Order: sequence, then structure tokens, then C-alpha cells
Amino acid sequence: VNIAYYQERIDFEIRKIIGQFPATPENLYAPLQYTLEHGGKRIRPVLTLAGCGVFSEKIDLAIPAALGIELFHNFTLLHDDIMDNAPLRRGRETVFRKWNPNIAILSGDALFAESVRLVAKSPIPVLAKIIDRFCYTAIQVCEGQQLDMDFENQSVVHVDEYLNMIRLKTAVLPAAALEIGALCGGADPEEAELLNEFGLHIGMAFQLQDDVLDTYGDAGKVGKQRGGDILANKKTVLMLLALERATGKDLEELNNWISAKHFEAEEKVNAVIEIFNRCHVLDEAKRFMNDHQQKAFDAIEHLHISPEKKTALHIFADQLLNREH
Ligand code: IPE
Ligand code: IPE
Ligand code: MG
Ligand code: MG
Ligand code: MG
Repeated sequence: VNIAYYQERIDFEIRKIIGQFPATPENLYAPLQYTLEHGGKRIRPVLTLAGCGVFSEKIDLAIPAALGIELFHNFTLLHDDIMDNAPLRRGRETVFRKWNPNIAILSGDALFAESVRLVAKSPIPVLAKIIDRFCYTAIQVCEGQQLDMDFENQSVVHVDEYLNMIRLKTAVLPAAALEIGALCGGADPEEAELLNEFGLHIGMAFQLQDDVLDTYGDAGKVGKQRGGDILANKKTVLMLLALERATGKDLEELNNWISAKHFEAEEKVNAVIEIFNRCHVLDEAKRFMNDHQQKAFDAIEHLHISPEKKTALHIFADQLLNREH
């Protein structure tokens, strides 16, 4: 398990994919090139290769699936930015702002189809299972995204509902990435499932951290609009806890900001963060994160792999969750 090598290899393979895009229609392919060349952290394909590498030396078996999963992730971002009305992604204008929403929808659709083509190049003995896992995961992501949107207009969201929403929109994909990688590497189904569990908890902690960074991160590093979730009335872990804990004037003010139609963006973000701070929601969010990180590490312990490999997974998980972008 050599994470640094996996990262380099994925970067190399994605450059190859970009090089093979046709020149026309330009409004279909230029947005895809724009999206993939400024690639982001590429966590999911590295997890796929790690899942394979734990069981086999031949990580090439998992390269197509890893690439397919990363393309799928980028497709979800193209559509997510329209849904969230987000101006910035990876420090640059989002595709639907730089071009337009129709272009972001269609280039996203093509990217999704391309992702399936890649995953379909997985080893024949496990192909049917992998395609089913991949497509079912895609459906779950849609379910999570719909809940995320529904919650914007729902005044009360219970913590359990929130956790289920982030499990679907975010956690199932890293989980599937690890499991599919393991299947490509010839793992027993039970072992592959343990990796899925590891990935699920990593994914939960990852989305909790994403919520935290949206509000408290350094926008320059995160590459997204600061406070974008607050502006969209997202029921993030921070907002949920604030709605639960705020009383009196704070609660009234928070509800006023949520229902306000006309406001200065900066002013809303700053005022809501003040309320978050007064309710000490950040510490509690970090407790949620640590809880899932611990559960992820527990899943590793049950795997029948060498202590060195367990340590490698442990270190990578630590890196993922102690991120600033
Ligand atoms: C962003 O994912 C969307 C979430 C599920 C939180 P990443 O933070 O992995 O995005 P990139 O690919 O590195 O930009
Ligand atoms: C991402 O949730 C989930 C998916 C894209 C499926 P967010 O909306 O929080 O992701 P970011 O913060 O825009 O990257
Ligand atoms: Mg978003
Ligand atoms: Mg979203
Ligand atoms: Mg987010």
C-alpha cells in the first residue's frame, strides 16, 4: 500500500483521459477538461487503489474502476454546484457560472456515462457485482442530494436525519470506492465489506469536516465561497446544532436570517457565525467527527491483513480527516 504512488498514478491516468477528449462539441468537452485538469484531492480513486493494494500487488486491476469513480465524483460536483448555486469550486469559477447551467448539466451527464464505461473495464469475475455496487451507490447519492435540498426548506431536521443524509450524499462513495477496489484485488466479499465500513465512517467524518470548513475554513485554501452553506440555508451539522441549542434572542435572530429574503451576504454569514460561536457548535461537531474516525479505525482492526497494511490505512485516514481543504 503506497499512497504517494497511487496519487501520482491517478494524476497520470487522468491527464491521459483529458488528452483523449474530442475537440468538439467544444461546449461539451471544454467544461470537462476545465473540471478535471484542476482536479481536487482525488481521494476516492486513491481509496480504490488502496482497497485493491491491500489484497493484491496488481493495482492495475483497479485503475479503470478508480478512474470511473473519480469521474463520477466530478459529475456530482458539476450538478451539485448548480443545485447549491455555488460560484466557486477549487478556487475557480464553477462550470455553470463560467458557461451556463445547461452546459453544466449536459457535460455532467456525459461524464457520468464515461464513468460507467470505465468501471465496466473491471475484472470479469467481479464485474457484475461491481457494476451493481457502483450504480446502486449512484442512486444513493441522488437520494442524499434530494434530502440535502429538501432540508433547506425544512425548519426542523433531527440529527439522525442529517446523519442519514450525509451517509447517502457523501459517505457511500468512498465506501464503494474501497469495496470495489478490494473486489478488483480479489478480496473475499466479507473483507471487502469491512473495507466498505471503514470507508463509510471515513466518508461521514469527511462530510462533517466539509461542513466545518465551509464556515470556519480558510476560503483561499478551501476554494469555495466562504459561508456558502449558510447563504443556502443548508442544514449542516453546525446549523443543526445551533438550531437545537440557541435560545431567546439568538434563536429568534437565527430564524430571522433563515427566512430573510433580502440581505447582504457578508452580513448574514458573519451574523450566523456569531450565533454558532455563542452556541459552541464547533466543539460538538468535532466530537461527531472523532466518533466516526474511531469507528473507521475499529473496522480496520477486524481485517485479516498485515499490521503494516493496517498502519498504512490508518495514516491515510488521518491525513484525509485532518485536512484544511
Ligand atoms: C467535495 O468532495 C464534495 C463532498 C462530498 C464533500 P472533495 O472535497 O473530495 O472534492 P475535491 O474533488 O477534492 O475537490
Ligand atoms: C456534496 O455536498 C455532496 C455531493 C456532491 C454528492 P456539498 O454540497 O457539501 O459539497 P461541496 O461543499 O459543494 O463540495
Ligand atoms: Mg455544494
Ligand atoms: Mg450540495
Ligand atoms: Mg459542502
